Amino acid sequence: MGCMSETTTWANPLRDPRDLRLPRIAGPCSLVIFGVTGDLAQKKLLPAVYDLANRGLLPPSFGLIGFARRDWAADHFVDVVKEAIQAHCRTPFRESTWNNLLKGIRFVQGTFDDPAAFERLSQTVQELDRDRGTRGNHAFYMSVPPSAFPVVAKQLAASGLSRSSEGAWRRVIIEKPFGHDLKSAQELDRTVSEVFDPSSVFRIDHYLGKETVQNLLALRFANSMYEPIWNSNYVDHVQITMAEDIGIESRAGYFDGIGAARDVIQNHLLQLMALTAMEEPVSFAAEDLTAEKIKVLSAIRLPHDLSKHTARGQYAQGWQGSREVNGYLDEKGVDRGSTTETYAAIRLDVDTRRWAGVPFYLRTGKRLGKRVTEIAVVFKRAPHLPFESTAVQELGNNAIVIRVQPDEGVTMRFGAKVPGATAMEVRDVSMDFSYGRSFTESSPEAYERLILDVLLGDPPLFPTTKEVDLSWRILDPIEEFWSTLGQPQPYRAGTWGPAEADQMLALDGRHWRMP
Ligand code: BG6
Repeated sequence: MGCMSETTTWANPLRDPRDLRLPRIAGPCSLVIFGVTGDLAQKKLLPAVYDLANRGLLPPSFGLIGFARRDWAADHFVDVVKEAIQAHCRTPFRESTWNNLLKGIRFVQGTFDDPAAFERLSQTVQELDRDRGTRGNHAFYMSVPPSAFPVVAKQLAASGLSRSSEGAWRRVIIEKPFGHDLKSAQELDRTVSEVFDPSSVFRIDHYLGKETVQNLLALRFANSMYEPIWNSNYVDHVQITMAEDIGIESRAGYFDGIGAARDVIQNHLLQLMALTAMEEPVSFAAEDLTAEKIKVLSAIRLPHDLSKHTARGQYAQGWQGSREVNGYLDEKGVDRGSTTETYAAIRLDVDTRRWAGVPFYLRTGKRLGKRVTEIAVVFKRAPHLPFESTAVQELGNNAIVIRVQPDEGVTMRFGAKVPGATAMEVRDVSMDFSYGRSFTESSPEAYERLILDVLLGDPPLFPTTKEVDLSWRILDPIEEFWSTLGQPQPYRAGTWGPAEADQMLALDGRHWRMP
């Protein structure tokens, strides 16, 4: 028997999982995590599994199998899982939830190239089916470097673990990066599709699991006041910002040579752009939502002059609050001559009637002034202002800003009369909706939502191969152009990026918002 989601009624990303009338509870199944000792598993995946269990969204028989090289005893693995959960879970730690989860936890030791290890995995899976009642339903989470995907996929196939059968499903979850360019993404896709049916492949872009990203759909399509002005008649431009205050931490091995654009523009920011720019989908079922995103991604046009409308930067030594921090080239594991960008900004246009002439500016960077992700829809100025120019000197453009994180919410910026002034004076003010203040429940973590969706077989929040390919088609020419340039422009850690990025907007007569 498959999970409860296999009916179409579940395919709605706007549905609140806490809705008691329609509980989205996974059916009997297990989750196998490859790379369970890694950072992602420890900080996000294991805590998300626990939080789901704590919210009553996992079946009592749920199985959790860790697969890793380390020669750990099963007991030690259990201790590691518990520590990770206690350190990072979102909901309160309860012994009763933990004790129940514990019954289904298993550890399989081995390397990815060892068929005997996959044989042990196969036996463990069968044991869970028999003793815990997971009924042949198993999801495999590849929390491993992309170079390991092919070998793991082939081992799963060889040991018969990848095959769904009548009434029992097998699914695979792939973490980004989905390749490093179009060609490698297509190769990866070929490898995975040789082993898994396309409908069993779930590509994780964790931004799509964030509540505020889903709220963007609610804001646009559940209300009547935004859609009429959401177009080139009223919108001047859109700025999508993903700023981080952290550096590359201990991830030099992954990040150096990849850079900020491949790391987050190719996936998170282009997905945010697609959701901001798309037409109303016929429904929120995966194929309808994807169809609209694909139209946007296909209509994106690169600027003619990439030297003027893109910018790269690399953080130099500076200050993060009161702490002095290293420059990128002095980070552990980074090549001293590295030309990898830690900041990237690009201008994109969308060749559709709705968006003709409205640039979308995307920027991301590490070691910037603060951590913030937002989508700012900036409106044209009023065609006529019946005030003296001194009265409106400081008036900016109206804007709707969707704050993805932190302090999730929406802000509207508009002009208002300064109270009491004898002459008419107008200044910018903000009107604020904050999730924290409007709802008592805290938002689930993106990984809770996405893991649950995989276990339910609910695909709307997962990018398809076509979306991934189109995103690389957009980024590849930019990367190719950047590869002909030398060192990215340095910017001081704790600031808002390289001067090049400011010039890029100044050329268009605009400036970056200060989030
Ligand atoms: C990941 C990137 O996808 O997203 C990281 O690889 C980045 O470089 C992270 O730090 C940011 O995620 P979040 O959810 O903290 O915004």
